[in-house]
Amino acid sequence: VIIIIIITLAFLTEPNDVIAVRDRPLMLDCQVEGEGPISITWRRNGIPMATGDRAMVLSNGTLLIRNFSKRRESNETDAGEYDCAAQNRYGMLISRKARVQLASLPKFLSHPESVAVDEGGVARLTCQVNGIPEAKIAWQRDRRPLSTADPRYTLLPNGVLQITGVRRTDSGLFRCVASNIANTRYSHEAQLSVTGSRIYQEPVILSGPQNLTINVHQTAILECIATGNPRPIVSWSRLDGRSIGVEGIQVLGTGNLMISDATLQHSGVYVCSANRPGSRSRRTALGRLVVQAPPEFVQWPQSVSRPAGGSAVFSCTASGAPEPHLIWLKNGKLLTPTGNVKLTNGNT
Ligand SMILES: *[C@@H]1O[C@H](CO)[C@@H](O)[C@H](O)[C@H]1NC(C)=O
Ligand SMILES: *[C@@H]1O[C@H](CO)[C@@H](O)[C@H](O)[C@H]1NC(C)=O
Ligand SMILES: *[C@@H]1O[C@H](CO)[C@@H](O)[C@H](O)[C@H]1NC(C)=O
Ligand SMILES: *[C@@H]1O[C@H](CO)[C@@H](O)[C@H](O)[C@H]1NC(C)=O
Repeated sequence: VIIIIIITLAFLTEPNDVIAVRDRPLMLDCQVEGEGPISITWRRNGIPMATGDRAMVLSNGTLLIRNFSKRRESNETDAGEYDCAAQNRYGMLISRKARVQLASLPKFLSHPESVAVDEGGVARLTCQVNGIPEAKIAWQRDRRPLSTADPRYTLLPNGVLQITGVRRTDSGLFRCVASNIANTRYSHEAQLSVTGSRIYQEPVILSGPQNLTINVHQTAILECIATGNPRPIVSWSRLDGRSIGVEGIQVLGTGNLMISDATLQHSGVYVCSANRPGSRSRRTALGRLVVQAPPEFVQWPQSVSRPAGGSAVFSCTASGAPEPHLIWLKNGKLLTPTGNVKLTNGNT
């Protein structure tokens, strides 16, 4: 028995979201299968692209922009939302919209601030920068790279430096170095001064966890850094009382919680507690972690042929968190219910 499956028109590869580098070539893929001849065209921000020397469509459907530009005078850049359209005698399919961003590293949003810390105490320095792609942040002390071998130093990827059990030799001028494919930048310098030795001090949480939204399989870092004398003990729990578990869970430095390969079950409110050893004296801080799952199709519409006057049903379901919103397109245009077209069951 020979089963012939006729694919009228379908995408094999749709364009991905990418970060483009200025003055470099950029390629966006669009591969389709189906009955030929098939023509492929591209749009940027919904407007058909003029192809020529600057941008061209290769024979395999890929869009090539020879020299990705950011024109300085006007607002005009090659960044935007791109989609490809495939057309054959059955009709037209429009791909997903690929978001193309220009790599950049703007000025620091915040610089580290000078601090004075008691010997044996805790220092926290922070800097913030919004790079595309996200910048890697390293630290320098007195303009030399900070050694990360010392377990008293914890560098969090979001630009936080924690130093515990501070010693006089830790003092100096600190600055961050942010870098990505677009640029490298240095922050202002901040002074860490180490003052006299410590007296008794109740636990204080210097910085607790932020509310965080991530996608499944990503890594979440929930910060918690506490100071006090004697040194407080930091522990974590979930507000709903469920166990945090052990798989993929690590403590970074003295109290930060790292959750790798996050799943939907990791969503929840996390509580960091700083306890004075041997007592009930404690401080807490909360942060909500939301884990999202991008939409995935569970069921696709199938090609059908029907006599005129008959009816055709197309079904489509998708899973994701939060619940995906479905729309239908016909020949690339949004399908709105009319006399003989009905959308049922939440557009599924
Ligand atoms: C890309 O364009 C910029 C200015 O628009 C120009 O300076 C540069 O030489 C071009 N690069 C290439 C590889 O054509
Ligand atoms: C399309 O062709 C270009 C140039 O030959 C190649 O670099 C690119 O990888 C091809 N794309 C796909 C999806 O095969
Ligand atoms: C850039 O474009 C926006 C609208 O698209 C406009 O409001 C803004 O003034 C423009 N900026 C420059 C520097 O041309
Ligand atoms: C986190 O979100 C809760 C609401 O869910 C809000 O009350 C709280 O202020 C937020 N915390 C931070 C640090 O933004």
